[in-house]
Amino acid sequence: PHPIWLTRHGESVFNEKGLLGGDSDLSARGDEYAKNLSAFIRERAGDEHVNVWTSTLRRTIQTARPMTQNHVAWRALDEIDAGVCEGMTYEEIRQQMPEVFNARAADKFRYRYPRGESYEDVIQRLDPLIIQLERQRSPVLVIGHQAVLRALYAYLVDRPAPSCPTLPIPLHTVIELTPTAYACEERRFQLAP
Ligand code: F6P
Repeated sequence: PHPIWLTRHGESVFNEKGLLGGDSDLSARGDEYAKNLSAFIRERAGDEHVNVWTSTLRRTIQTARPMTQNHVAWRALDEIDAGVCEGMTYEEIRQQMPEVFNARAADKFRYRYPRGESYEDVIQRLDPLIIQLERQRSPVLVIGHQAVLRALYAYLVDRPAPSCPTLPIPLHTVIELTPTAYACEERRFQLAP
């Protein structure tokens, strides 16, 4: 069985500032992670071909940049669309749009941002990607984002979908999932601070 590696992009300029969404570049720490990730995959995959999948956003494509393999960019892997809240901090949302803040806190799984998406929406758009993922005959490295990886991870390790919005998917950490007969074996590797 081939491993599936899941990782968020390296730290972005928006991450540094605590801003949601957007399409910012990697920070200096994010660049560092991209280099470490490339070395890690090279060592772990050996001679095997690795399919590298990113979202269409700059921060995931930049995270793949040090790698020698070509990557495929999937819109299905783009981060949850926070709609009118894109580019804001959680604190700004709490102060300026308390109804949005409270409604999301009350039902984070189903809550859809005005002009944006819910976790449920994200799960739906992942369907075609999951079908492709299960067809691959070589390891896949998925470079995604926090919300979209929560949804994908929950599916792969068979957790109930509604529990996914709070699963920990930290930055600068590779989650290695190896399918076995009954479940998925999981290991986590933190490659940068
Ligand atoms: O802050 C990084 C980020 O990827 C945002 O772009 C996104 O809105 C958020 O995380 C998703 O996490 P949560 O659903 O916990 O707000």
